[in-house]
Amino acid sequence: MKRVLSGIQPSGALHIGNYFGMMRKMIQYQNEADLFCFIANYHAMTSVVDGAALAQGTRDAAAAFLALGLDPAKATFWVQSDVVEVQELTWVLSTLTPMGLLERCHSYKDKVAKGLQPNHGLFAYPVLMAADILLYQSDVVPVGRDQKQHLEVTRDIAQKFNHAFGETFVIPDAEIDDEVAVIPGTDGRKMSKSYGNTIDIFTDRATLKKRVMSIVTDATPIEAPKDPDTCNLFAIYRLFLNKPGVEALRDRYLAGGLKYSDVKKELIDVIWEYFAPHRARFEELRKRPDELNDILREGARKAREVAGATMEEVRQRTGLAYWTA
Ligand code: ADP
Ligand code: TRP
Repeated sequence: MKRVLSGIQPSGALHIGNYFGMMRKMIQYQNEADLFCFIANYHAMTSVVDGAALAQGTRDAAAAFLALGLDPAKATFWVQSDVVEVQELTWVLSTLTPMGLLERCHSYKDKVAKGLQPNHGLFAYPVLMAADILLYQSDVVPVGRDQKQHLEVTRDIAQKFNHAFGETFVIPDAEIDDEVAVIPGTDGRKMSKSYGNTIDIFTDRATLKKRVMSIVTDATPIEAPKDPDTCNLFAIYRLFLNKPGVEALRDRYLAGGLKYSDVKKELIDVIWEYFAPHRARFEELRKRPDELNDILREGARKAREVAGATMEEVRQRTGLAYWTA
């Protein structure tokens, strides 16, 4: 069975871009693959410098995944920092990572351009990500398009290691779904915590309303036909519809007489209802820290079994296991 792995940073409330871009697919995978899913709290430290916020974000991200249907009996689900082997592997991999490879990473360059302090953690971010993926011998890594280059870096590093020390790591494939590769935010740019243009999955109704009403639309007069393919509101709404639903919405756009504000009001209800069955479970997990802790502790135990075996081999091959020479 294929091993499918991905992680998500607990650096803010999870939004529908995260859900349609990554979480939904991961949850589906638990029925057809050997699923490894984790909360990337080490990675989040490159942007969250607040202990309470990181801890709460980690708990909320884990609760969200579980509430949305991730089943810890079917998948291995843990918090990144509960398996410290990932740090050891990061160091080993970093000694094989050319500076130029990291210097070319868009994600790093973009964050620096946006004014983030270019610290070493941010620079080395892709190496930690490679360690996440390789430590668990992952075959497939489902991610949004923004992570494509990080997967290329991972493959590159894995090949370098295998070449230097012998076949050790599975070379993973990225899986990017074109339909949902980039979910737009309320302003039409990629939906992202860092742009403040998100619609959050488990937000309260008043905030949901505010966010949906703020979706930017064009100034086409009400009576005129509207172009669904350039409309941000359409691009968000369609995520919640099945095929006939999308076609019906498209027809309303093309027919003219459509008021964007009516569509937005509808969309508020649609989003609210879509996540309603999961909201209660999310709140329950937030109120029951012990249950969440138990699930995560057991997940880390399962993850550590695989991580330990990989590190054993890495220590042997690299000569860290000096005692066996
Ligand atoms: P953010 O950009 O809000 O900080 P992350 O970088 O933590 O989100 O993304 C977590 C996961 O969700 C990744 O797999 C990422 O590719 C996916 N993702 C995030 N935003 C989007 C989006 N707007 N469209 C599609 N996928 C997304
Ligand atoms: N960098 C990813 C993101 O921001 C999160 C992540 C960390 C990840 N480690 C990973 C994704 C390993 C896939 C595999 O979305």
